[in-house]
Amino acid sequence: MSQSRGEWKSKLGFILAASGSAIGLGNIVFFSANAYRFGAGAFYIPYLIALFALGIPIMILELGIGHRARKAFPEALYEIAGVKGEWIGWFGLLNAAVITMYYITILGWVFGMWIGSFGSLWEPRPVPAFGLESGTLSNSMSFFFDMISKYDAVGYVMLVWFLNGLIVWWGTKSIERAVKVFVPLMWLFMIVLILRGLTLPHGTNGLLLLFTPDFEVMKDINVWQGAFSQIFFTLSLGFGIMATYASYLPKKTDQTSNALTISFLNCSFEFIAGLAIFSLLFCFAVVPSASTLSMTFFVIPEGIGSFPVGVKLFGILFYTLLLTAGLTSSVSLVEGIGAGIIDKFGIGRRPVVLTICVIGAIGSVAFALPKVIDPGLANDGTLGLTLLDMFDHWAFSYGLLICGFLECVLVGWVLGADKLRAWIDQNAFIKLHPFFDVMIKWVIPIVILFIVVVSIVQESTSGGIYGHNFVVGENRNLHIFVLAMWIIFTVFGAMILTGAGGFRPRKKTGRLLDKEEQE
Ligand code: ALA
Repeated sequence: MSQSRGEWKSKLGFILAASGSAIGLGNIVFFSANAYRFGAGAFYIPYLIALFALGIPIMILELGIGHRARKAFPEALYEIAGVKGEWIGWFGLLNAAVITMYYITILGWVFGMWIGSFGSLWEPRPVPAFGLESGTLSNSMSFFFDMISKYDAVGYVMLVWFLNGLIVWWGTKSIERAVKVFVPLMWLFMIVLILRGLTLPHGTNGLLLLFTPDFEVMKDINVWQGAFSQIFFTLSLGFGIMATYASYLPKKTDQTSNALTISFLNCSFEFIAGLAIFSLLFCFAVVPSASTLSMTFFVIPEGIGSFPVGVKLFGILFYTLLLTAGLTSSVSLVEGIGAGIIDKFGIGRRPVVLTICVIGAIGSVAFALPKVIDPGLANDGTLGLTLLDMFDHWAFSYGLLICGFLECVLVGWVLGADKLRAWIDQNAFIKLHPFFDVMIKWVIPIVILFIVVVSIVQESTSGGIYGHNFVVGENRNLHIFVLAMWIIFTVFGAMILTGAGGFRPRKKTGRLLDKEEQE
């Protein structure tokens, strides 16, 4: 590996960066919202099955292919299956780019809420853009809708992009520095939050709900799709991030123990976040709403707003926690995409980072557009929020699973899962059982395919999990437009990026020639 690609200075730096990528908004709010939506305690069963059956094997796979190729995702997959493999890599990165754009929009709004948590978030206010008087909505809802109906939010989004650009500007060096500060901080903030939640009167009521499973919901395919997508999202799988981060590791590193450590850190954080959020909400009988965004922006601040003392302090703490956790994840998303371009086209890091930040910021601004399209707030209210919801539906619920399916097929059937296992085992303390091959070749692809196909069929004939019926539902044209845009961007975009490097000299194995080798 050429030194200029960057290398983690220490194993700790890598573990902090990879677990910082995994721990993000997904752990703190999306998990609780999904758990509530899908039967609270019952959600743990598909979630744990998804963790062991999919999450950990795919984490090992992604770390293994990145470490083996010592290249970012598309190039690593090119080494396995030529242009078909590369296409899959770009599909994953472009799907990740869509998620990055709206993820950073959400972080921009989190930043706005963080500012509000110093004062105005806790007071009633009118929401003129929606024609609402002061006191019509809860304090947090009116603050949020007022914020997203103004251009200030666009400024916040740009600021978050700027911070991301700054952190990835120097590559592994600056990422390592940032995670060494942010990751310990977010653990500390989470521990404070859970102590507060559990020591509130009736704080344990929420836990009862979390641990009282409703097994009925498990018959519903959407619960399984929710759990499987959540595992992909929370472990940062299907984004190409883990392959990229592992490509910066020295040759002799143990990917099995890395995968287990990252998964353990991520899921234990998610578990305690679930405890904290359920306890603090139920203590004030604030019912968690079904949507992940409403959890972040209305429900949790409403819970904190009911604290007898320390409202501002815990509000600031909660939004600082979200910002730090979100930033270490968004940085990894930007790095994964950037490394793909750097490795394929041999362009310098800085122009690549700058270009991604400019294009990404334009995309994020589209999601932050303050144009009000539903003054009655029956739906999402603004055009940006509606678009965000619709893109999330395809990129999160389907894109990640499709990418996971394709990479398993590639490794299982083209490279041979046994070859990857042999590579990983060379440096692994715990040797992988040959059943790993069966999982990668058969079990995971079949399970994902089943879930994706059944969900699509169900969704096209009924309301679907988000009520997004793309055949007959509300906003039909907008739904079709979003689906078409997502397909054009990911499927055709991947074709263009795969073809664009066709002229570059490659070794017979498919590996791109290093600069020295070309000379
Ligand atoms: N894994 C990241 C999260 O959970 C993307 O937010």
